[in-house]
Amino acid sequence: MWARIIFPLLFTIFVLPQLPQARDDFSRQPAGQVILTRHDRSDSDPQQVHISLLGSDHIRVSWITDDRQAPSIVEYGTESGRFDVKARGVHTSYTYFQYSSGKIHHVKIGPLEPDTTYFYRCGESGPEFSFKTPPSTFPVEFVVVGDLGQTDWTASTLAHVDGQDYDVFLLPGDLSYANGHQPLWDSFGRLVEPSASRRPWMVTQGNHDIEILPNHPKGFVSYNSRWPMPYEESGSTSNLYYSFEVAATHIIMLGSYTDFDVDSAQYKWLEADLARVDRNKTPWILVLLHAPWYNTNTAHQGEGESMRQSMEELLYKARVDVVFAGHVHAYERFTRVYDNEKDKCGPVYITIGDGGNREGLALDYEEPASPLSLYREPSFGHGRFRILNETHAFWSWHRNNDADAIVADDVWFESLSTSKACWDTVDEQVSSSFSKDEL
Ligand SMILES: [Fe+2]
Repeated sequence: MWARIIFPLLFTIFVLPQLPQARDDFSRQPAGQVILTRHDRSDSDPQQVHISLLGSDHIRVSWITDDRQAPSIVEYGTESGRFDVKARGVHTSYTYFQYSSGKIHHVKIGPLEPDTTYFYRCGESGPEFSFKTPPSTFPVEFVVVGDLGQTDWTASTLAHVDGQDYDVFLLPGDLSYANGHQPLWDSFGRLVEPSASRRPWMVTQGNHDIEILPNHPKGFVSYNSRWPMPYEESGSTSNLYYSFEVAATHIIMLGSYTDFDVDSAQYKWLEADLARVDRNKTPWILVLLHAPWYNTNTAHQGEGESMRQSMEELLYKARVDVVFAGHVHAYERFTRVYDNEKDKCGPVYITIGDGGNREGLALDYEEPASPLSLYREPSFGHGRFRILNETHAFWSWHRNNDADAIVADDVWFESLSTSKACWDTVDEQVSSSFSKDEL
């Protein structure tokens, strides 16, 4: 009894402060209150249900039960209440200091039809859920939100996200802000379930997801156990970096907190992955990572620099269209950039780390503003990247303080896959001026 009280107390006092945390030596606006989402289902009922893409026509359904005997089974079909197909999957669990996770279930279902609503039930018990698969062709819409956390700002962000339809949720790191307090991963899973059970959530890791302990020296035990992504399907050997394709869009999730130098497995995988991309088949390439390579906020200055120096040339030569990052708790949009210069063949860099974390906003920017930075604002919100066709996409950023219909920042994109000038000069740096409103 006393051990159950004293050990977590000692852990909180002595161990947690040693875990990787965000630097906090910069100005932040007060954050929202942390929401602890209660567990109000039976031990055998599924909780924390979320789905992710698994290959071109499959979905992974993930959930947790307190009951260790609950089966890893998903029943599903295209009519509510009628589950014609049954799939059996795998389960795992982990321990972290004095914490033991519930039974974590992962079940692969499919093949599924594109752009179709499916109804499903987990573990042959509990409530019915539903999701819609992404379309196989354009248009397709991605929601992008980093540094989500679990505050009342998080709830506000998710309410705005779900206020308008979309196809896939992309999260460039820092999910639960548990920072070692494992029950906060469970609370986070319950908070996001209404959103994450109805649209695929594809994530990459942030610094708050590391959670190194002596018996978990590589970290990520909770992140990897709860949020497995389709890394094997893209030839990766790590859940910390992978790629996938949705509706003629190639999306690369990079790991800011695993090795990225030129001799690393991640670098070699990225090089091979980019070489496999066929821009006739997937004219758009999006990249997500956590620590931004370009950033004029005073928060987290230079933290993405070594990764940029290692990998930027690979993305540039592949004519990646846009790079989304989190980590800095604010919104910032850059022009097309390569090696710190405006470059019409480089990616647009966007920081979208304003999902609702418990640390608050990063308010201070470097002055004078860099001409590379076209829009910057510390407000909570989310972004939408709507790809209309092979050549054009529309990016919009939505503040939580505004009504759904209000767009705080927007810009049209033209895919670099169609820029003959950029492909003719793929091995050399090309610079020229261009309009702010068409990139
Ligand atoms: Fe972060």
